[in-house]
Amino acid sequence: RPPLRLGIAGLGTVGIGAVKIVQRHADLLAARSGRAVTITAVSARDRTRNRDADLSGYEWETDPVALAVREDVDVFVELMGGHEGPARDSVMAAIAAGKDVVTANKALLAHHGQEIAEAAEARGVSVRYEAAVAGGIPVIKALTEGLAANGLRRVMGVMNGTCNYILTRMESAGLPYETVFEEARQLGYLEADPNLDVGGIDAGHKLSILAAIAFGTRVSFDAVALEGIGQISIDDIRRAGDMGYRIKLLGVAQMTGRGLEQRMTPCLVPASSPLGQLEGGTNMVVLEGDSVGQIVLRGPGAGEGPTASAVMADVVDLARGLRLPTFGIPAAELATPIPAQAAAP
Ligand code: HSE
Repeated sequence: RPPLRLGIAGLGTVGIGAVKIVQRHADLLAARSGRAVTITAVSARDRTRNRDADLSGYEWETDPVALAVREDVDVFVELMGGHEGPARDSVMAAIAAGKDVVTANKALLAHHGQEIAEAAEARGVSVRYEAAVAGGIPVIKALTEGLAANGLRRVMGVMNGTCNYILTRMESAGLPYETVFEEARQLGYLEADPNLDVGGIDAGHKLSILAAIAFGTRVSFDAVALEGIGQISIDDIRRAGDMGYRIKLLGVAQMTGRGLEQRMTPCLVPASSPLGQLEGGTNMVVLEGDSVGQIVLRGPGAGEGPTASAVMADVVDLARGLRLPTFGIPAAELATPIPAQAAAP
């Protein structure tokens, strides 16, 4: 079979991580895919930046849309981020040009998932996004494939490592929110817009994607009741601890008599539970299916290796010829979730 040719847009941490896997694991990817996986061209905002990878063998495009529609690209890999502008334009252009797409972009899917899914299905191409939720944890594959025969009862989890770092560090070091927030900034944990992390938005994006797959509803970030961690004090954390609980920024999606409820809010969780034992910048997703019962997935939710691991797993799936509707069932059959106000406690 001919090689599967990638065009990678975005050469930040994740993009470089993906390039390194292609270079380091050429044989392994070929064996598992049944064909070679190669990179044709790449694009990034700043070509001159010093990057920790040899990019000399690849063609450069300055415009990601031009990269997305190149004839010698089979799969467009979008790792730029942002839910408007170049990311959306290039993904839609790639789909229109008949390319499969791999993306790590949770904001894009949370805001435009339905439009993207409908376009992809109309054009007969596949959009895969394992890296968009919980980084290296294969939770999308768990839901769409491993639990395909289950009715899902509930999906919950800690899906923003930065918030979990801040909350656990406040607790262990007895430091106030502002101090630990500043620490997290200096460690480079925070998104360029920190409110995406501490406001619960990034985690809300991820929850809305999982909820769509689990419950067969349209992705609807607007329907997530959101509350960030900025109001949590050391006293709150201590009082919770005295009662045997810890405070986590917890996402919960579940079907109720009124429809799908989605919340991403600080919650008390029993300190002895798996979620209560989650430390530092880690993620945990708990899936409850009617046949399987409860599954707990824990692992790194961010970073070069873990996120690139998920990106390249999607590439291997496409190379193998695996094709699924974007959210597990055809986009036209996805139901409408109830609005956030109705889900609020
Ligand atoms: N800011 C995110 C986190 C990165 O802290 O989990 C991965 O989406």
